Amino acid sequence: MAVLQISLVIAAYIVYKLISSYIADRRFNSFAEKNGCLPPADVSEPFPWGFRRLYRILRVKKTGEDVLDDIIMSDFDEAGGSRTIQFKVFDGSTMFMTADPGVLQAMLATQFNDFGTGKRRYDVFKPLVGKSIFSSDGPFWEHSRALFRPQFARENINDLEATENASSALITALGQTDSNGWTSGDEVLPLVYNFTLDTATDFLFGQSVESQRIAIAARSGSGAYQDHSTREQIEEAKNFTDSFGIMNDYLIMRIRMQSLWWLGDSLNLRRAIRRIQRFVDPIVKRSIDTATSSAKREEKKQSLMNNLATQTQDRTELRNQALAILLAGRDTTAGMLGWALTRLALHPEVFAKLRSTVLQEFQPGDPITFAKLKGCRYLQHFLNEVLRLHPTVPVNQRSAFKDTVLPVGGGRDGQSPMAVRKGTVILFSVYIMHRRKELWGEDALEFRPERWSEQRYPAWQFLPFLGGPRICLGQQFALTEASYLLVRLLQQFDAMEPTNAAEAQKLKKGLGVTMWPGDGTKVRFRKAAST
Ligand code: HEM
Ligand SMILES: *[C@@H]1O[C@H](CO)[C@@H](O)[C@H](O)[C@H]1NC(C)=O
Ligand SMILES: *[C@@H]1O[C@H](CO)[C@@H](O)[C@H](O)[C@H]1NC(C)=O
Ligand SMILES: *[C@@H]1O[C@H](CO)[C@@H](O)[C@H](O)[C@H]1NC(C)=O
Repeated sequence: MAVLQISLVIAAYIVYKLISSYIADRRFNSFAEKNGCLPPADVSEPFPWGFRRLYRILRVKKTGEDVLDDIIMSDFDEAGGSRTIQFKVFDGSTMFMTADPGVLQAMLATQFNDFGTGKRRYDVFKPLVGKSIFSSDGPFWEHSRALFRPQFARENINDLEATENASSALITALGQTDSNGWTSGDEVLPLVYNFTLDTATDFLFGQSVESQRIAIAARSGSGAYQDHSTREQIEEAKNFTDSFGIMNDYLIMRIRMQSLWWLGDSLNLRRAIRRIQRFVDPIVKRSIDTATSSAKREEKKQSLMNNLATQTQDRTELRNQALAILLAGRDTTAGMLGWALTRLALHPEVFAKLRSTVLQEFQPGDPITFAKLKGCRYLQHFLNEVLRLHPTVPVNQRSAFKDTVLPVGGGRDGQSPMAVRKGTVILFSVYIMHRRKELWGEDALEFRPERWSEQRYPAWQFLPFLGGPRICLGQQFALTEASYLLVRLLQQFDAMEPTNAAEAQKLKKGLGVTMWPGDGTKVRFRKAAST
């Protein structure tokens, strides 16, 4: 008896679901039609949808395929001319993907309120950052953004003492030069990651974790550094950087698994997160103590954490926000610098021009300021070109918060309006957009910083930091610290070359939440005679 009743209930539920989805489809279709919309080009795989693509993506380490140039690009190629496509994924839902400036401008600016980072972003990042500026929408995001904005003001970015310290530590870490003045040519990418960890933690916490100096001390093994407290410091710093790496591997897995994000979890991940949190907790506690004590006025410099702690003393929120900013700011900037050094080593003519510009505009001994770095046009054009061909956040996504209409993206050619249903995820790739010949010309794939002085490009086709109300808060900070380090390197060294040119030329990518040179950055520098 019970079996029959249960079957009836299930059958009734299925019928109810079918009818309501039929009605919802009809309503949405008439909404689309009324607004003159066409669906974007459909490149769905046959059933079971999306598994072949996921399988291909999960196997790139074995097959050597490039996720962006081979897999995502082939989806676009299949659609012919359009730069907006749709495809079904394994849970039966339809996803959109775009590399169209018009669609991006609408989603990120003119129709900002119709879209957001959505529940998926929150779910994927929850174990690490919970609710934070980076993983929330609506009032909580607005509150966070307003809280942080003052810290990113120009006065704070102009305080470049920590950047100077981190730059000179990196140059020290490059090591001794040989009799011809060349550095060893070992991998420099990890040094760059430690550089951005040091500058980001100083900015956030008012105090750098000094990962570079600690590592130098550990390597030199000099007696003075081998006392107990330093050994612990070395281990702690190593634990932190290692855990950050583990966490990144899981984050990208959770992103790729889409609705199966929860499979990307393990004791290993949880342990890494606990170690990261254990590292940040004392800093959070110190900030709260400072904020609530009367001594706070005497501090020379207010760190972001200290400012935040005057607004809220909720430890979990403070920790979440701090880690979100570290996550947003560290690997992105390191990736950009890794690509910048790779490009400098591969293009001697760009190196020479940039170096002579820098030597002219930055006399030895003169302070390197925010204004001077911004004013150095070829340096900025160089970084633009690095971020055009190697945007360190190559793929991203938004969810539709309601049924809405975007001005372009629909039809085979992508020129008609396009209806987007509430809940639809729209992936977007600025990497693909930054390489489109229709937008950048026949030489789109060539690395040519000069293009930026020859022509003005429409703003919405160059979005390494996105745009609109949610544009990267750290844009000026990132460009400033990267420019600073480059100036210091160019002042010290008069030549640069890849230690394995054949490998470097392949420009293989490492892809996680961010994108970095996948074969690392094995370059050597030659000390300039006069320094
Ligand atoms: C080359 C370096 C960087 C790149 C390419 C970059 C790129 C981006 C992008 C694409 C976003 C938008 C994410 C989204 O809304 O989906 C973003 C957001 C953000 N970035 Fe950056 N970023 C860089 C450096 C930094 C640095 C150094 C910091 C901080 C010290 C930072 C802080 C943030 C914050 C707080 C957000 C969230 C803003 C919001 O949601 O309102 N970024 N960044
Ligand atoms: C920079 O380094 C100097 C010398 O080691 C130190 O006294 C100073 O506090 C450091 N500044 C910052 C902002 O870390
Ligand atoms: C980066 O810093 C960590 C922590 O100090 C250290 O363990 C690691 O060896 C450093 N990396 C390099 C290449 O120096
Ligand atoms: C570093 O990690 C190891 C292994 O997880 C742990 O045993 C050790 O206590 C950690 N050290 C510090 C200083 O946090």
